[in-house]
Parts: sequence; C-alpha cells; structure tokens
Amino acid sequence: MPRPIQATIHTAALAHNLGVAAARAPDSRVWAVVKANAYGHGIERAFDGLRRADGFALLDLDEAQRLRALDWRGPILLLEGCFEPRDLELCSRLNLWHVVHTTEQIDWLAAHKTQVPHRVFLKMNSGMNRLGFTAASLRSAWARLNALPQVDEISLMTHFADADGPRGIAHQVQAFVHATADLPGERSLANSAAVLRHAAAAGVAADWVRAGIMLYGSAPDAPAGSLASWGLQPTMTLRSRLIGIQHLKPGDTVGYGSTFTATEPLRIGIVACGYADGYPRHAPTGTPVLVDGVRCRVVGRVSMDMITVDLSPVPAAGIGSEVTLWGCGPDGTVLPIDDVAHPAGTIGYELMCALAPRVPVSVSVDPCPRSLTP
Ligand SMILES: Cc1ncc(COP(=O)(O)O)c(C=O)c1O
Repeated sequence: MPRPIQATIHTAALAHNLGVAAARAPDSRVWAVVKANAYGHGIERAFDGLRRADGFALLDLDEAQRLRALDWRGPILLLEGCFEPRDLELCSRLNLWHVVHTTEQIDWLAAHKTQVPHRVFLKMNSGMNRLGFTAASLRSAWARLNALPQVDEISLMTHFADADGPRGIAHQVQAFVHATADLPGERSLANSAAVLRHAAAAGVAADWVRAGIMLYGSAPDAPAGSLASWGLQPTMTLRSRLIGIQHLKPGDTVGYGSTFTATEPLRIGIVACGYADGYPRHAPTGTPVLVDGVRCRVVGRVSMDMITVDLSPVPAAGIGSEVTLWGCGPDGTVLPIDDVAHPAGTIGYELMCALAPRVPVSVSVDPCPRSLTP
C-alpha cells in the first residue's frame, strides 16, 4: 500500500480559467504561460485543459519540444529567447518564436543560417529592470533586427513589476507606449495580474496577453484578491489521509521544537504529508487544512513526512479520514492554494511549482472530484 498522498490536476478547471483570461481580454490572443512545467502541473497533464490557448509561452527548449511532441502546431514563444547560438537551430526546426532582449541574441541571429525567417518579440525594459532593452537602446535593436534576413516579423513586449500591487502599471505602460509609438508590430504587455486588474486600460491587453498563474487557480494579488473574487477554479488538488491520532492533555506539545502547547484536552490528527511532498515547512500553527471537507488548522511544526492537525472541528474524523492540503475537498469544498501559501509567507506559484516528484499525480476532467482515488 503506497502512502495515501495524491495530487490531482483538473483539466476542466484549467479550461475554465483560460476562458476567464480570454473573457477579460476579448480582443487579444492569449498565451498560456506553461514555463516551469506548467507551474508544476506537468505540461502533458495540463495540455488538454489549455489547448484552446492561442499559443504557449515558456522558457526551456525541452518544454517546447514536448509541446510539439503533443502535436501542438500553433505558436510557441520562448520568453527568455535563446541561451546560446545553437538554440536558434531548434527555433528554425520547430518554428519557435523567441524573445530578443540582448544585443548578443541579435548577433547570434545575424550569424544564423536559416531558410525560414524567425518571428521575434523584442523586449523592452520599461521598469522591471530584469530583461530587455532600455528606451534609449530599443530603437537601434529594432533597426538591427529589421535589417536581418533571418527575421520575419518583429513584435514588441514588456513585463510588469507591480501589476498585482498598489504601484500599478501606468508608469510602465507610459514608458513602453512612448518608446514604441512609431514602431510597427504586435504588442504584448499583460501578465495575469494585469489581465485581471488592468485589462480595460488603454493599450494594456494589446495583441497578446500572457496569462500564467491565473490559469492555475491562484489569484496573482492574493490575499487582496482570491479565486472566488476573480471567478477562478483550483487546478491542482493535494490530498492525503490521517494515519494517526493523538490525545493531548493541557501542557502537552506537538512535533519538533515543541512549538505548539495544548491549553486544553485536544485530539490531533497526523497527516501523511510533509515538506518532502512540497508542503511548505514554514506553514505556521493556524494554517488551514480540510479534514473530511471541514476546515481545521495545522498545529506545531511541519516535518518531512507529516503534519499535525487540530481535529476539534471534526470529531468524527479518524484514521483514514481524507485531508485536503489545498484544492478541491470532498463535496465541492475548496481550500485555495493561496490560503496555505499566505500564512506560510509565500505565494501560490511557489507551492504548485514545488510539488515533490514523490507525490503521485493523476488527471481529472472533473473540476472537483468527490474523493481521493484509492
Ligand atoms: C515574461 C513573462 N510573461 C508572463 C508571465 C506570467 O506571469 P503570471 O504567472 O504572473 O501571469 C511571466 C511569469 O513570470 C513572465 O516571466
């Protein structure tokens, strides 16, 4: 009998969330961002749910090859472009569109031998200060690309630093619009937070939006925003079962470091899930968890293979009771991944990407399956 932990990927929920992105940017095409193995979901598992996207955006050439192996013939965009000159050969062979953000990447293109000119996305640094050309250098980069026979169409893009927060995007939109005003080509600016919070503002949705986290059932602006407030559905469920019960007396402590002390008699459940499964070690006492669909709290420190849960709200729970760490509980209950990430001092992105390889993963077309598969 394997450990009872199990993750499930909900393809119908992925499709639903993609629909939310499309509805918020009705005049734009949608890149489904599937970097980091579809944010930990697995490209092959997520593909069915996301196949109505207009294109897929990612980083690794290996992931691009996996998408072509799934028979995806539409656009694929390499968000960081090529890492070395020979990557261009794969771009030619697989018809990959690629971001150009350094002069070196232009040099490599200039030396590349290809029959088929490439579609490139020229990236402007409008304030994030990670990748891209500054306003001052963008024009000469564009002119160089435009003169190359290896280049077909040049699109323009930038990336927001604060689409999820109070600073917002207006200063970056302004910098981008100003620097690119008289350049032709399609534009792409918005990530999930911009799609959800700012898509109605002029020029933001543009020709292509790049939706990532919202597709995977996490609010980019949590805890201010939530799955419910944005109409999104959870796409990854992590479930396990109770494998032990302890009865604490007042003064008893739980787990490593004895960080939790019972102040009254307490029945606690031991869950087969720990940080070696991807559960955040920094989840403090009070982090929510569903036991048989009832919201309970983690008590004490998360260990490698177990967490401990206060069973007071669910007195009927016993060995074998189903525990939802995040995602869909039984009978349609939901524990958003953001509700676990936030108390643990992290974000939904990190939790889903960190799902450990030892956790078996299944795929379901049902957005919220009623029970853990045996
Ligand atoms: C260039 C670029 N575009 C779009 C995205 C998608 O962002 P999000 O997952 O916040 O929607 C990312 C992710 O970090 C990115 O790096």
